[in-house]
Amino acid sequence: MAPLQHPQVRGWLILLTAAVLAVAAGCARTEAGGADGARDEGKVVVACGATEEWCAAMTARFTKETGVEAEFVRLSSGETVARLQAGKANPEFDVWHGGPADGFVAAEEQGLLEPYVSPNAAVISDRYKDPEGTWTGVYVGVLGFCNNSRVLAAKKVPAPQSWEDLLAPGLGKNVGLAHPSTSGTAYTMLWSQVALHGGDTGKALDYMRRLHPNVLQYSKSGIAPAQQAARGEVGVGVIFSHDCVATQEQGFKDLTVTFPAEGTGYEVGGVALVRGAHNPTSARKYIDWALTPAAQEIGPTVKSYQVPTNPRAKVSSKSVDLGTVKLVDYDVAAAGRAKKDLTKRFDTDVAQAPKS
Ligand code: G6P
Repeated sequence: MAPLQHPQVRGWLILLTAAVLAVAAGCARTEAGGADGARDEGKVVVACGATEEWCAAMTARFTKETGVEAEFVRLSSGETVARLQAGKANPEFDVWHGGPADGFVAAEEQGLLEPYVSPNAAVISDRYKDPEGTWTGVYVGVLGFCNNSRVLAAKKVPAPQSWEDLLAPGLGKNVGLAHPSTSGTAYTMLWSQVALHGGDTGKALDYMRRLHPNVLQYSKSGIAPAQQAARGEVGVGVIFSHDCVATQEQGFKDLTVTFPAEGTGYEVGGVALVRGAHNPTSARKYIDWALTPAAQEIGPTVKSYQVPTNPRAKVSSKSVDLGTVKLVDYDVAAAGRAKKDLTKRFDTDVAQAPKS
């Protein structure tokens, strides 16, 4: 019997051929999917940090305009960093879009992002982007108080006009605030206290400890306090003011927006390339698109009134006028570098303390 006819030899040959084909397929995928792969699968998977409606509108329009399939998962800022860290060896996302940029800095600290300077970033102000392209800003949001006027009237508590007012005993368990570890909104509030106390994190945590008895519970998502205020579960939600406007437009007419007179924090919502993305070419195309005026004018179509960073984008009359609110000097890079340690201290020193 010729050797090739021998059943055992034939078996080995079939196995060897299958192995070679599998390795070749793997290489093709790696080559197509590697971070520096010129080609990719022609789709983009987005970790999206703004509202569900915003995320859906963004990815749908991107696909419509480019033909590239786009999927998203809505995640709060801290959740995104955790998911990127968990997927570091085999990223599930190609792009992070939306959510405060200090979360992006925290992700970069862990080597989770790939710098990419989009040609469309040239028109974005230096204030709203990382010079190395670790993140580029797509919108600006301002922290405010979302007040349920009916609840406050019943409690005979005036709408807070300052951070000090938020400590009023009459607001016991009547302040809605998310947890800074998961929510970028809440971390913006925590870092605003650091900025207001000359960079002293101890004094910032002291303020948060004083506020603690007034907080009903620390929600995961930054937008939950808007719903709590809308439903009258709390008198005041500490959120980005545009989220309060969006909730008003959903029909909750008892809501009003005020800003703390001492100065308030703001977010620069970012967009970034995930390190090791399987679809780097589509990801870069998405980032280029997210920085265009057309992309940044989508927000108002889904009641999202963040201020666009592209100076050529039309600004909705319902967006906050940044020139009319006293803002703290919010150092995004410093906030991002401090995030891991400061949120851990908040969790142990404040969130878990008994509500005396
Ligand atoms: C909302 C706002 C966004 C903000 C985001 C932060 O979606 O509209 O402007 O970036 O909250 O979400 P998070 O859950 O991390 O606080």
